[in-house]
Formats: sequence, structure tokens, C-alpha cells
Amino acid sequence: MSVEEASWSVEDQEAGYTLPAKFFYDDAIFQQEKTKIFFKSWHLVGHVNELREPGTFLTHEIFEQSIILVAGRDGKLRAFHNVCQHRGNRLVESRRGKVAMLTCAYHAWTYSLDGCLRGASQTQNVAGFDKDKHGLKPVKVEVFAGFVYINLDPDAKSIADMAPGAEAQIRRHIPDLDRLTLLQEVDVPVAANWKVIQENSIEGYHFDQSGPAHKQLVRLIDFAGYTLTPHGDWWTYIGPTKPGATEAYGLPLAGATWQSSGFFNFGLWPNATLYVFPYADVVGTFIMMPTGPETSMLRFGYYGIEGRPLPDVTKACIRWMNEDLGPEDIKLNVSNQKGLRSFGFERGRYIIGEGFENRSEHLVKHFHKLCYDAIRS
Ligand code: FES
Ligand SMILES: [Fe+2]
Repeated sequence: MSVEEASWSVEDQEAGYTLPAKFFYDDAIFQQEKTKIFFKSWHLVGHVNELREPGTFLTHEIFEQSIILVAGRDGKLRAFHNVCQHRGNRLVESRRGKVAMLTCAYHAWTYSLDGCLRGASQTQNVAGFDKDKHGLKPVKVEVFAGFVYINLDPDAKSIADMAPGAEAQIRRHIPDLDRLTLLQEVDVPVAANWKVIQENSIEGYHFDQSGPAHKQLVRLIDFAGYTLTPHGDWWTYIGPTKPGATEAYGLPLAGATWQSSGFFNFGLWPNATLYVFPYADVVGTFIMMPTGPETSMLRFGYYGIEGRPLPDVTKACIRWMNEDLGPEDIKLNVSNQKGLRSFGFERGRYIIGEGFENRSEHLVKHFHKLCYDAIRS
């Protein structure tokens, strides 16, 4: 099917019909998403505190593109395409580490942390060879609310301009944002389109209707006060903690500390989420990285607070997220993906209306609209 044929009419949108099923498995549409969404948007790579020491680096993959983000000796963070300028060898393979210089494993061209080519064997004998012309190719970087993002589009609008007011809101809910330290990072492959996973995370309709871990979450938050708010290219979904809770994640709350007065989630177009769980002193990142039309890699990052021991309730929360809530949602993602392929399903129906804002799927519709507009741009 060509992209022109893939339409979602305004009439259907107004009548409450979802983005058609083919948007969740068609390869031509997926290719459009790759270039028009992912090669143009901001990607969360890590927290600034992971890159404090000169030479510490993180790599990030956006499909076949690999980017290296490295802390310079001058304290500046720089991002480069992760490729040697000699004959195109990938420079760094690991996700994180520390180096004095960036040295290519093939012919040992060596780049300083600011991307300049410093050493290249035999080039002094090559007429007209100018080291200054062979530095690493830069990629746009931005630090936003304590986290570092990269963008392959040199003309991209800054996140601060894209998400006005977001940082103040994030800081209100995550007071220790600047003191975060990485505890754990888990990559989980999921047989589902990235949008299926995103939809699941931005609606509360399934919370009290699906599995036991979801019902547990509903018991920890004041679900009646759960609000999902679109703000253009960013959104939040927030639920205050249930007053009077004495235990969470199977442990008593006595002596525990927590990061926020509730369940707070910040989503940035297209695929990054930053969140805190009720009664847990941990900040999570959740990134939906597409790997194919019907496959994704989910990256779960968990950040504790520097110098503060991890309360047992928080440890239990991380375990619960990895072993209970996460798998429960992933199971739904996978079965949802299978169903989208059915000859018996063409498109869905949003449940949006007055008086049940906590269960309403308006944020899913908002997200679909952003995807559709980007593909058709
Ligand atoms: S490809 Fe990197 S040094 Fe030759
Ligand atoms: Fe869920």
C-alpha cells in the first residue's frame, strides 16, 4: 500500500474512529515514520549525571543510525555520528563507558573528545591531507529537565520551545531531578508496533479492567483524580496518591521516602516518557524504540537519588515494575498487535466523553493525530 492510500479521514476522526489498523503494521507507513518522525525528533539518551566525567559516553541507536554522546574535557556535552571518517567503521559499540580518546578499531584513527581528528597513521606522507577536514560529524544535543536528548535534524526546534512550561511542571513533581543517578537499565524486545505500546501507556481505561498489577496501581493512586492532559508535542498523566495508604508493592510504608506526591508521567513526542510511581523514591524513563513495523525495543531506565539509600519499598517498586506491571502491559501490547492484523478489524473506536476523564482515551486520539500529521506532512 502506498502512503497516499493510507488515509484517516477527518469525518472518521470526528466520528471517533481510531487511526486505521494498517498504520500499525504496514511497511511503507513505517518507512515514513522513520524519516518523518524519528529522524526529526528528540531522543532521550540519558541523565546529565551519567556524563559528568570527561570521556564518559553514551551511545544511542535510531534505527541504523548510531550516535555517540560524550563529555568533553571542557565539561561540554557533544554528540557525533558514531562513525569513523576514514572508511566508515562504527567507532563505539557499547552503550556506555569512559575513554580518553575515541580510537577506531580498524586503522586506529584517533579523535579527541571534541571530535577533532588527532592521530591518523601515515597521513603525514599523503599530499594535501588535512586533519581538520576529517573530524567527527556533529549531532544536535539538548539538556532538558536534567536529561540529555539528541536530534538528527540540524534544524530541529529546541525542546524548551517545543514544550513550554513542561520543565517547571516536571521539577514540581520530581524535586530531585538534578541529583539522579542511574540504578538500572533494562532493554526488552516486544513484538508490537511502537504506537501500540505508546497508546497503552497514555490511557487509564484499562487500569481497573485488565490484570492484577494494574488493579494494584489503582489502589495506590486516587484514580478518580487521574488526569491526562495533552499539550501539543508533550503530555502529562497524573494521579495523586491514595490518602491513608499504609503499604505499597507488598511492603509497609513505615520509614520509606518517596519522590513525589503521586503518579506523575511526562511524555515527549514521539517516544519518551519520564515518570515517578507512588510511594517510590525512583525516577523512571521509558523509551519506545521502533525496530520494525511490528517490533520495538523498550528501554526502562531507573534512577535513584545520589547519596540516599534506596528504601525497601522503592526496591519492591522496581521489581514490581519489571516483573509484574511491565510484563502485564507487554502481554497486552503483543496480543493487541496480533489483533490489529485480523481481517476482522479495520479501525477502532475511541472511548472519549464527559464525566470519566480518568478513563477517557483523548490522549490516544491526540497522539494518533500527531503521528498522522507527521506522516502526511
Ligand atoms: S575506518 Fe576507522 S581508521 Fe580506518
Ligand atoms: Fe498499563
